[in-house]
Amino acid sequence: MSGLFITLEGGDGSGKSTQIAFIREWCEERGREVVQTFEPGGTDFGKDIREIVLHSRGHITPRSEALLYAADRAHNIATIVRPALERGAVVLQDRYLDSSVAYQGAGRVLDATEIRDLSLWATEGLKPHVTILLDLDPAVSRDRLAAENKRFDRLESEALDFHRRVRESYLDIARAEPERFLVVDATLPREEIRDRIFERLGTLL
Ligand code: TYD
Repeated sequence: MSGLFITLEGGDGSGKSTQIAFIREWCEERGREVVQTFEPGGTDFGKDIREIVLHSRGHITPRSEALLYAADRAHNIATIVRPALERGAVVLQDRYLDSSVAYQGAGRVLDATEIRDLSLWATEGLKPHVTILLDLDPAVSRDRLAAENKRFDRLESEALDFHRRVRESYLDIARAEPERFLVVDATLPREEIRDRIFERLGTLL
């Protein structure tokens, strides 16, 4: 597999989409094919799963939620990401398995190793080459979302404590795999975040 698989992680409102747009342009200027995708919902099948997992009004048990994200992931990886990487493309993905470890593992208090193994089974073991974590205090994230006047989805509606566990889990994963992760303070100006990301990616492209 000759492509480059880059994932972006971070709390809601941490600015992932802005940075993805910067990275996309930068890779394209270097003549690389870029495939952009996201989880949950990057495929047609995934859109249905996204609707259930983010907007279902009834209660969803934590294990069921974990399986829904894993099902979405399995399909996204098999039908979009692997074919793109085999062509040599750069894949830019908004959220991947670290989201499940952080939200379903730490957030929903499921076993982090089991959640990770579930995702690795779903994706036949595909790991990103680089993961960019945009680290943000959940209280700041909440203010940013409130300012956008957006309707909160099921996960966004969780209490601050849930989001604090998510943040700590992300930072733990990043500490455990420093060669894969670049952690950037999401309160920095967007151009500064962009430059730090470019510095890291420059060695890989
Ligand atoms: P989305 O609107 O895509 O969030 P964002 O724009 O912040 O990336 O919604 C995805 C939500 O799903 C987000 O709150 C995080 C959550 N999520 C999980 O709980 N587990 C997962 O495995 C993934 C991929 C997302």
